[in-house]
Amino acid sequence: MVDLLLGLQWGDEGKGKIVDVLTKDYDIIARFQGGPNAGHTLEFDGIKHVLHTIPSGIFHKNAINIVGNGVVIDPVIFKKELDNLEQFDIDITAKLLISRKAHLILPTHRLLDAASEASKGKAKIGSTLKGIGPTYMDKTGRNGMRVGDLEFDTWKEKYRALANKHQALLGFHNIDIEYDLNELENEFCEGIDALKKLKFIDSEQYIFDAMGQGKKILAEGAQGSLLDIDFGTYPYVTSSNTTAAGACTGLGVAPGKIGKVIGIFKAYATRVGSGPFPSELFDEDGKTMSRVGNEFGATTGRPRRCGWLDLVALKYAIQINGVTDLMMMKADVLSGFETIKVCTGYHYKGEEIQHLPYTIDEFAVSPVYTELPGWKKDLTQMTTSDELPPALKGYIQFLEKELKVPIKIVSVGPDRTQTIYR
Ligand code: GDP
Ligand code: IMO
Ligand code: MG
Repeated sequence: MVDLLLGLQWGDEGKGKIVDVLTKDYDIIARFQGGPNAGHTLEFDGIKHVLHTIPSGIFHKNAINIVGNGVVIDPVIFKKELDNLEQFDIDITAKLLISRKAHLILPTHRLLDAASEASKGKAKIGSTLKGIGPTYMDKTGRNGMRVGDLEFDTWKEKYRALANKHQALLGFHNIDIEYDLNELENEFCEGIDALKKLKFIDSEQYIFDAMGQGKKILAEGAQGSLLDIDFGTYPYVTSSNTTAAGACTGLGVAPGKIGKVIGIFKAYATRVGSGPFPSELFDEDGKTMSRVGNEFGATTGRPRRCGWLDLVALKYAIQINGVTDLMMMKADVLSGFETIKVCTGYHYKGEEIQHLPYTIDEFAVSPVYTELPGWKKDLTQMTTSDELPPALKGYIQFLEKELKVPIKIVSVGPDRTQTIYR
């Protein structure tokens, strides 16, 4: 069986931390979509690590880590990730396997991303500019380059043809972007050399065989459900299916082989980049969340927008993914608020609704809040569920009743150890 771990909001829910915490119970950790737009943070032994492409199980000796076919890989960023891991005692060639069917992000994909965003002006998506959209466009357009192509001598010709096409496309955007293609290509080739040191596999077959041997597999999602290309706040989304079905196509796992669907959410909400966010705060409360939660993007360093938990959106994400287990992150950040608000409905066309309409921008919906008492106690040293303050227990009970899925973990700090099981 393959368990899934997914973000239920707009990304950055704390997926990296929880995958690291859960890895001891799994034999294989596999990323199934997204690329280096992701930034997954892990903290233990006083060190903070940020991973972009490499699965978050990499620090554990027991687990094999797989970059699945649904992922897009930038060899340049990938090499940097590998270099960062050199200081640790990790047998990387044995522990990290790459799907031959994963697509490659070319330097010109990044340039196209930048040109596309610049040409949109105010309507820009707020992309991480890692070339994600253009790479998935080439994948579905059947033009892309895959990891497996690197095993053939012809890969450079393939590369050149695609890069030439991208340069022609850049011309259409009519945007001045300065770049030195030679420099970018040197860097790219160094990245390819680093990538080629790893083992390329037919990951769908590998995972199928591992399942046959009774191995336990955890699929690690990137981004969040509301950034899903189909079900997110389109067009302000990423270019892959971040929801449960993405794990089937991104790893080659049949739907019937999916076990638990673990959904991760913050005790409040954040979003980085453009797009609607009905419960967004522009007041002191929002600033407090941002400061206490240290809400800055792990990939781009951009400040994350903050707001109250949106139960309408969360219920939608739970429904789309078929979530069986919930995990609530960053509960510690809400300590000190007199009152906790939760968005339990939207005002929409003169009535109150509890479902997600076609658009949730500020012209369509405004949030309806339910207020709950806050708590003052510092949670960060707590290790058991019993210690949690009554008001937080009340918050958890309220959420479980609304969401109808149990909250199995409450996270009270960024470190591995700051994890409370319920
Ligand atoms: P991911 O993309 O879902 O892996 O999440 P990110 O790593 O981008 O962002 C989550 C941030 O919150 C990181 O800086 C984590 O170290 C931090 N974090 C995770 N869990 C907690 C928690 O329970 N409390 C606090 N204060 N920080 C947390
Ligand atoms: P993790 O895995 C938060 C957002 C970007 C932008 C939109 C499209 O760390 O949770 P893209 O680069 O895909 O073209 O950007 O999606 N975005 C993320 N936001 N966490 C992420 O990943 C994200 N990956 C992309 O900010 O709004
Ligand atoms: Mg992140």
